[in-house]
Amino acid sequence: MTKPRVICTRKWPESVEAELRARFDVTLNEADEAMSADELRLALDEYDAVCPTVTDKVDAAVLANPKRVKMLGQFGVGFNNIDTEAAKAAGLVVTNTPAVLTDATADMALTLLLNVARRTYEGETMLRAGEWTGWRPTQLMGTSPQGKVLGIIGMGRIGKAMAKRCHHALDMEIVFYDAFPVEDPGVPARQLDSIEAVLEAADFVSIHTTGGGDNIHLINAARLERMKPTAILINTARGDIVDEAALTEALKTGGIAGAGLDVFEREPAITAALRTMKNVCVLPHLGSATRETRVAMGMTVVENLTAFFDGREPPNRVV
Ligand code: DGY
Repeated sequence: MTKPRVICTRKWPESVEAELRARFDVTLNEADEAMSADELRLALDEYDAVCPTVTDKVDAAVLANPKRVKMLGQFGVGFNNIDTEAAKAAGLVVTNTPAVLTDATADMALTLLLNVARRTYEGETMLRAGEWTGWRPTQLMGTSPQGKVLGIIGMGRIGKAMAKRCHHALDMEIVFYDAFPVEDPGVPARQLDSIEAVLEAADFVSIHTTGGGDNIHLINAARLERMKPTAILINTARGDIVDEAALTEALKTGGIAGAGLDVFEREPAITAALRTMKNVCVLPHLGSATRETRVAMGMTVVENLTAFFDGREPPNRVV
């Protein structure tokens, strides 16, 4: 029996690639170089399934009249890189990899929160430059998260995992905004009825919504103005949720105190301002980057592909 033809747009963890080889006629990306729009379009003509990831722009032009593809097996929970309407119009099934990266991403949000609050970037920079002259009572005093208010925007799996960490480990009070009523936030937490109410109440704001669509610039200049001047903004979700120019201005003018960013509006580009500001901690989209999590993400794609080609409903179908 001929195996379905599958292509991965980037290099995946080796154990997952071995599993793909066993189950499919797979083309892997050993060189790990991003595919161009033309290469993606060609892949849709030549493979039964294409497995893109967050950096592949699978837009309406790429998805116009594909000759062979039946399924897009996204490696990632977010899929705002795929024009899902165009995929639906082309009759494709689209799947993602939810749940398996919840803890890793919440860990990263917590890492950023603590790094910015405790000014670790400034401390490490000073130390590595050989400029540390010794301990002083007033050196690099940060802010304690204990007992402060954490505001969560988007109380899905990752928002809840962040709330759990901040409640149990840091004794923080949790408030949140979600477009839908959240029956069980997992820990004591108050759902507020607007994003503004959360921004006004919070000492730390952590973003956990999806990107794209209506959420583009959800956090804009007007909303940043609602935050306390002492507040810190954390974003491990998608760069386009925050208006980066407005954020930069707020950080420069003392509108807010700091930011921890794992995602950016024009990845992998990052502005000189964000790269150099002391009150900002920047990371290269590392939220899910643990070996365990990336293997679990890959195996989730394998399960989605297997179900689809066995004629079953893929467990993580989004279209
Ligand atoms: C995702 O899965 O959406 C992340 O951004 C990449 O880990």
